[in-house]
Amino acid sequence: MRTHKCGEINTQQLDQTVTICGWVHRRRDHGGVIFIDLRDRAGLVQVVFDPDVPEMFAVAEHVRSEYVLQITGVVRPRPEGTINKNMHSGEIEILAKGIEVLNESETPPFPIESDIEVNEELRLRYRYLDLRKVAMQEKMRVRRDVTRVLRNYLDDNDFFEIETPYLTKATPEGARDYIVPSRTHENSFFALPQSPQLYKQMLMIAGFDRYYQVVRCFRDEDLRADRQPEFTQLDIETSFMTENQIMSIMEEMIRQLFAKVINVELDAVFPRMTYAESMSRFGVDRPDLRIPLELVDIGDDMKHVDFKVFSAPANDEKGRVVAMRVPNGGELLSRKDIDDLTKFVSIYGAKGLAYIKVNDLNAGIEGLQSPIVKFAPADVWASVLAKTNAQNGDLIFFGADKSNVVNEAMGALRIKLGHDLNLIQGDWKPVWVIDFPMFDWDDKAGRFTAIHHPFTAPSCSVEKLKANPGAALSQAYDLVLNGTEVGGGSIRINRSAMQQTVFEILGIGEEEAREKFGFLLDALKFGAPPHGGLAFGLDRLVMLMTNSTSIRDVIAFPKTQSAACPLVSAPAVVTDEQLKELGIRLIKPAGKEKV
Ligand code: AMO
Ligand code: AMP
Repeated sequence: MRTHKCGEINTQQLDQTVTICGWVHRRRDHGGVIFIDLRDRAGLVQVVFDPDVPEMFAVAEHVRSEYVLQITGVVRPRPEGTINKNMHSGEIEILAKGIEVLNESETPPFPIESDIEVNEELRLRYRYLDLRKVAMQEKMRVRRDVTRVLRNYLDDNDFFEIETPYLTKATPEGARDYIVPSRTHENSFFALPQSPQLYKQMLMIAGFDRYYQVVRCFRDEDLRADRQPEFTQLDIETSFMTENQIMSIMEEMIRQLFAKVINVELDAVFPRMTYAESMSRFGVDRPDLRIPLELVDIGDDMKHVDFKVFSAPANDEKGRVVAMRVPNGGELLSRKDIDDLTKFVSIYGAKGLAYIKVNDLNAGIEGLQSPIVKFAPADVWASVLAKTNAQNGDLIFFGADKSNVVNEAMGALRIKLGHDLNLIQGDWKPVWVIDFPMFDWDDKAGRFTAIHHPFTAPSCSVEKLKANPGAALSQAYDLVLNGTEVGGGSIRINRSAMQQTVFEILGIGEEEAREKFGFLLDALKFGAPPHGGLAFGLDRLVMLMTNSTSIRDVIAFPKTQSAACPLVSAPAVVTDEQLKELGIRLIKPAGKEKV
């Protein structure tokens, strides 16, 4: 139906007769001449209709936005002064010789323009129109390029692409499961995989050596800008490779990915940082290294001060007192800004946000302006100023509470100030976070939970792990890019005694372990090789590479924040027959709820 795509035509086709198909992006009447910008996947081209062919002109007069046209015409240079260097086809236009309306269109519910703000529910309801926008087409193109480059790299490195089931059994990755009732097995349910974790381990036991899969994962969890209930992982597993070897081969893949798809040269070697260092300096395990602000521990200085807000956590082994210096903050932040920031940290549970303005370092305590200076002697403040390397004009913020509250509140404050005060340095800062603890103590439940997942190998022996689970480190690693966790993985447990020990520590009794993971415990007995791997969040990678603010923008048909699809109206009620067949009775049958 066409000889070229619209956006492909340029001066190379000058004087040629071409036929193009596409959507009417814009139609303009200019005193007897009609201009139509026709759009397809490749971009836009300008078509001109002269009034000297009246039938054709009449058709052109009646077309509206988003009509689908087939146009034949001759490519000619644009007149002086109308050349648009930003467009691939900006130096030419097509003088129409024939037009056919392939289909009409109702007026779209929003303009097909990339930079016009539209309510997201509406965008998702008419996603096929939203996806026509040039910016969305570009994001999907990057996504296509990303999977292509990743697949090529893995194929070149002898990885096997293998598919694993979606109808399966729960794989614990910390979220709730989506479950699917079985018709053929009464009272039984499949779970959709939170990840293919155990299948990929069994593929290593099966001897496949190197596996990958571009795979959908399903997690029923609270949604955020970088979380969807179904999302895509690039899932990877290898045998006979060390933690360092896995990180190196993956690092090279990510470097090639950025170079080939968005022409960005990442660091030759990604830095590595222990979990402990990351928490200490940045309050989070996914540090944004572009932001030059750091938390500095000052608990030792505050043990004996006359200010309980600081001295209590300083003397509590679960407490933490930190200072964070904001260079030039005295000038950059007003009293009102500080009040707003105090409200901001309260979202994370902080009970306040103490601060000191450093007016004059040489004037001792007199040179410091703050409601809390009076609570501690000069030598304490001198030590704080030295530790934070404070300069005249700086503002120092303080956080004091249980460590987790301080880390969350001050970690979030650090990111906020980094963005608000334009402190971001550099474009891309990848970092491997390593040496995660094996377990986290859940106070409420009174038991340990796995920080990565229960199949992650510790760095120590079974005996040492049993003796002090809380202190054990794991052989897990996360790849963090600009403050987003883009991937994570670990060396796995490959012996059943160790796996059983970890289950015990997690409070999973023998019977429960057998019932849930008996197949894994069995498999580990048949010569499971040393193995490990990781999974990248493909949507998150594409989000970062396309400068998007949400992963919803790089998924063709994403769910809303409440995990629904406005386009097809899912989830939806099912018929009574279907329920009956599945042996399911609803507690609140459809239509009987009070609305
Ligand atoms: P993990 O749970 O860390 O590890 O997931 C790996 C990566 O997947 C991405 N991700 C998500 N992306 C979008 N929406 C979500 N809800 C979501 N949850 C996770 C993140 C994350 O780094 N089986 C292990 C991997 C392994 O050990 O090999 C796993 O799934 O970018
Ligand atoms: P107060 O004596 O409670 O008025 O607090 C004095 C200063 O300490 C105020 O600036 C508070 O915002 C701040 N503050 C109170 N609690 C904390 C806390 N847990 N961490 C940091 N600063 C705090």
